Amino acid sequence: MKESLFYLFFNETFYAQITGALAFTVFTAVLGSFQFGYDIGVINAPQEVIISHYQHILGVELDDRRGTSNYGVNSTNSPFIITPAPQTDREAAGSAQLITVLWSLSVSSFAVGGMVASFFGGWLGDKFGRIKAMLAANSLSLTGALLMGCSKLGPSHILIIAGRTISGFYCGLISGLVPMYIGEIAPTTLRGALGTLHQLAIVTGILISQIASLSFILGNQDRWHILLGLSAVPALLQSLLLLFCPESPRYLYIKLEEEVKAKKCLKRLRGTDDVTKDINEMKKEKEEASTEQKVSVIQLFTDSSYRQPIIVALMLHMAQQFSGINGIFYYSTSIFQTAGVSQPVYATIGVGAVNLIFTAVSVLLVEKAGRRSLFLAGMIGMFFCAIIMSLGLVLLDKFAWMSYVSMTAIFLFVSFFEIGPGPIPWFMVAEFFSQGPRPTALALAAFSNWFCNFIVALCFQYITDFCGPYVFFLFAGIVLAFTLFTFFKVPETKGKSFEEIAAEFRKKRGAAPPSKAAVQMEFLGASETA
Ligand code: GLC
Repeated sequence: MKESLFYLFFNETFYAQITGALAFTVFTAVLGSFQFGYDIGVINAPQEVIISHYQHILGVELDDRRGTSNYGVNSTNSPFIITPAPQTDREAAGSAQLITVLWSLSVSSFAVGGMVASFFGGWLGDKFGRIKAMLAANSLSLTGALLMGCSKLGPSHILIIAGRTISGFYCGLISGLVPMYIGEIAPTTLRGALGTLHQLAIVTGILISQIASLSFILGNQDRWHILLGLSAVPALLQSLLLLFCPESPRYLYIKLEEEVKAKKCLKRLRGTDDVTKDINEMKKEKEEASTEQKVSVIQLFTDSSYRQPIIVALMLHMAQQFSGINGIFYYSTSIFQTAGVSQPVYATIGVGAVNLIFTAVSVLLVEKAGRRSLFLAGMIGMFFCAIIMSLGLVLLDKFAWMSYVSMTAIFLFVSFFEIGPGPIPWFMVAEFFSQGPRPTALALAAFSNWFCNFIVALCFQYITDFCGPYVFFLFAGIVLAFTLFTFFKVPETKGKSFEEIAAEFRKKRGAAPPSKAAVQMEFLGASETA
């Protein structure tokens, strides 16, 4: 409770702990999370203009069934697939498929980059320090932005796919580095509250990219490349500001054993000369870390005390991504277009705004309600919304007002996502593991998240082609399956010590409690909740 944003806004001692240096440093760090969100949202609204450009440079002619664009709804009412006219020959059909493949790759290459890099964030941070690692990562972001910003000058499809892959590398790295750095510089009582700013910055990035994508701003034939390249601005700003940020005192003290330097950084961050409390805490953490050995990926699956938690951790991330949420963030403009919404881009901005509001709501709720209950509530809500979304699409031909039903259902789907399934997997996994296995488990969880993100980004167009307006029934089925899994297998972690969480896992798999000696061996030095 003490760490919630509620506490943050309504408690005076909070303001006393937020020094100028801390606020500046956290702001600089979450510029990375902001870029992550920007890159997720930016590809959504300009789909139509960029596809037209691909057609133009590749000399591909596609059927215009709607009279408004070069791509659109096909006869099976599939929302997104590019369909050649019935009279066109095989060559034209092949060209249509080529454009679909290129567009799917333009969207999903970002997640490929994220997937690969998510494994290296922690390693880079340990090797070079948090600040240098973030600076190095920014060079990737700038390269990606440059390639996309210049994509009109060369083979645009190749430059965009390459640029998004490289931006994905950056986002994969910072999705590990930013939460780690913030967690390390925040005073203990504010760690949770400041940690949630990562997700808040992501959703702000999504919203800003959606607004910048409006056709009268940058989402038009002349300026879409500037829109894609614009993430260079936060990247440059972050690189510049990082030069003035202190290195993580925990990294200096625990990894490098540089006590003097660690104290100097702490004094700056805390705005006081008395940093004994922080130093004592780090001492304890250092002792704990030395009692536990690092655990490998294989050990996570072979050791019976880790197997259950790691499976649950992976399932939570799979549930988050296979709920289809990024199908909405990558493709909502087309979805709204198909659902008959007259101003799809504005509806997409609405999604971004709702997403931001409910992320803030969940920040308030998460320390009050349990993680498991919020996750379940969110999943159940998403299940019903997915069914209503599909019904709206199926019945659109009969009732025009169904477009409002679909639109409302999409808004609610996103709201339920942010109540639980959005933020919870990112921090709940850390609560399942003690110091030894935690870094490996977190890297694996992040990898599985990006991997599933990639699958959704790549396959969404093909799935919608196959399922037509019934597409969200499929996601409803998946959400239902994960909801049942959560109900039976996921323990509550809120307010529990690490031993209590481990005992919950044993109960769920029906194992007998271990002997006292085994408990002591297993949890030596790891009695804290993450
Ligand atoms: C979570 C997901 C990310 C998604 C975002 C939307 O951070 O991991 O994939 O795009 O929420 O808010």
